[in-house]
Amino acid sequence: MLTNKTIIVTGVSSGIGQEVARQVKAAGGKVIGVDRNTPSVDVDAFHQVDLTDEAALDSLIETLKPLKADGLANIAGVPPTAPPEVVVTVNLVALKKLTLGLVDSLADNAAIVNLASLAGLGWEGEVTKIKAAADLTHSDVPAFCAEQGITKDISYFFTKQALVAWTHENRWTWRDRGIRMNAVSPGPVDTPILGDFLETLGERAEEDMRIMDRPGRPTDIAPVVTFLLSDGSVWLRGVNIACDGGMRAHIDATSNGLK
Ligand SMILES: NC(=O)c1ccc[n+]([C@@H]2O[C@H](COP(=O)([O-])OP(=O)(O)OC[C@H]3O[C@@H](n4cnc5c(N)ncnc54)[C@H](O)[C@@H]3O)[C@@H](O)[C@H]2O)c1
Repeated sequence: MLTNKTIIVTGVSSGIGQEVARQVKAAGGKVIGVDRNTPSVDVDAFHQVDLTDEAALDSLIETLKPLKADGLANIAGVPPTAPPEVVVTVNLVALKKLTLGLVDSLADNAAIVNLASLAGLGWEGEVTKIKAAADLTHSDVPAFCAEQGITKDISYFFTKQALVAWTHENRWTWRDRGIRMNAVSPGPVDTPILGDFLETLGERAEEDMRIMDRPGRPTDIAPVVTFLLSDGSVWLRGVNIACDGGMRAHIDATSNGLK
């Protein structure tokens, strides 16, 4: 499915990113991993970069450009227990900077996949804040968080809402080159950060876990990411795929008076 395709995978050293790397390799692709930690999964090249470090990210972009990659899987992310400035920087600002820095150097027909979340639900109600965040740089983040009231309670939700919105906005941005952007939104997934989500979200998460038959696994999410990286998904543009054991459908149905 990904024979001879070169795919850049951020967050490659744990959880969903690690499993995506495994499945991209199994599908015949080459994996160029990016993470702050060393991976234990097999990759074709690895760049150890902390995405909060703007200079290191600039240099990563220059290093990756000559690859003319066929895919970029933006999977690195931090949970809501991290300081809000770090959440906004890693989950949104660095992700956008890496993507926009690389997009002109990607191969024609390349696929960009953003790891969003069920937490991105309700982005339509946050458009003012999302617009205010449109052109943020790393150094703008502390002032932005202070001005817009991006506290620990909402930082993670805000970044995923903004990411879903950005994916929709970019449905046709690079259409003349066949480059497409899509997103995947998991519900709770059993990775090292699941405990952080449960701790932050409290009762709301407990209720989700009660309704769900089980939490997701990286092996539930990675095939969807791999599909979005493949040529089989060329007609998908700017979509956000809920991969959550039915949680999104449950919320949509019950909030509209259906069973
Ligand atoms: N686990 C869940 O319940 C869940 C649910 C929905 C969405 N997600 C999203 O899935 C993505 C992957 O999460 P996961 O559950 O696999 O978590 P994880 O902690 O297992 O993996 C995240 C990876 O990102 C890397 N990373 C974090 N900050 C970084 C930084 N500053 N620089 C470089 N690398 C950095 C980590 O080192 C780690 O390898 C995240 O974007 C997360 O928000 C997770």
